[in-house]
Amino acid sequence: MTSGGDAPGMNAAIRAVVRSAIFSGLKVSGIHFGYRGLLSGDIRPMNEKSVSGIINRGGTILGAGRSEEFKTRKGLACAAEVCQQNKLDALMIIGGDGSFRGALELYQFHHITTIGIPGSIDNDVAGTDLSIGFDTAVNTGMSCMDKLRDTAEAHERIFVVEVMGKESGAIAIDVAIASGAEGVIIPEITIDIPKLCDDIRKGIARGKSSFIVIVAEGATSAYHVARQLEEARLGRETRVLVLGHLQRGGPPTALDREIASKMGAHAIDLLLLGKTACFAGIQSGVLVDYPLSYTWEGRKPFDIKSLELAKRLAI
Ligand code: F6P
Repeated sequence: MTSGGDAPGMNAAIRAVVRSAIFSGLKVSGIHFGYRGLLSGDIRPMNEKSVSGIINRGGTILGAGRSEEFKTRKGLACAAEVCQQNKLDALMIIGGDGSFRGALELYQFHHITTIGIPGSIDNDVAGTDLSIGFDTAVNTGMSCMDKLRDTAEAHERIFVVEVMGKESGAIAIDVAIASGAEGVIIPEITIDIPKLCDDIRKGIARGKSSFIVIVAEGATSAYHVARQLEEARLGRETRVLVLGHLQRGGPPTALDREIASKMGAHAIDLLLLGKTACFAGIQSGVLVDYPLSYTWEGRKPFDIKSLELAKRLAI
């Protein structure tokens, strides 16, 4: 199943899981619409043909979703019963830390074998350098900034752009580096609007014509930042762009297809080794596995060096 928010590359992971499982003589079914579909028994058999022609497609052919009902004791017990009725020996869950919590509970309370594959544009899963969808989301953000820069330059404007990331500034930092943004605001660091205004004033004095400030949605709203910049009377018009769900769509990049294929196949290897309540990850190019609980117990540190680089290069 694919669970939580969809992420580009999830289809490549589904393909890898299905084909690796079949290669090893296992039977596979797809659970549609995440834990909601598990509860309602929306489970359909899959074969190697079910996943042909999907590696290049964004979204997820299985549908995604979040389920409040599943989070209750009753919901969990009902899900376990559905697994038994459908003779499911193991669940492969492609999603983020919320999805992994559910997977761990299914194992802890109902002894169901569960293996996770990190899929989230936020890249906030500890234990893996990359989660599926992050690279595509950053590339999408970068190409939007390239277009925006044209207008920003033509009108000598300041643009405040909100990108996704409820608790993580990872997308914001990487989009800022890749697009040469002049400012970046993330949830992990206290916002310093006076310093941002000061940097913009210095930039104007040096003859800079346009400014792009990237804000991760979890830090504050782009509208709030824009209002404060207007109030500081910097002598430039300010506009806001909220990228929103655009960042979750589109064909996955080569990197996302590659890591999704590798981690999907690795998840089947882990299953065949008898592992459970763990997830497949990738660190410095090497496939690894960690207990599911590591994702919230080991909280992924944010990349301070990249943040410093984005700021250093933004003069
Ligand atoms: O976790 C992925 C994510 O895209 C976050 O970056 C974002 O805050 C959230 O999902 C949005 O969720 P929804 O699709 O429910 O609006």
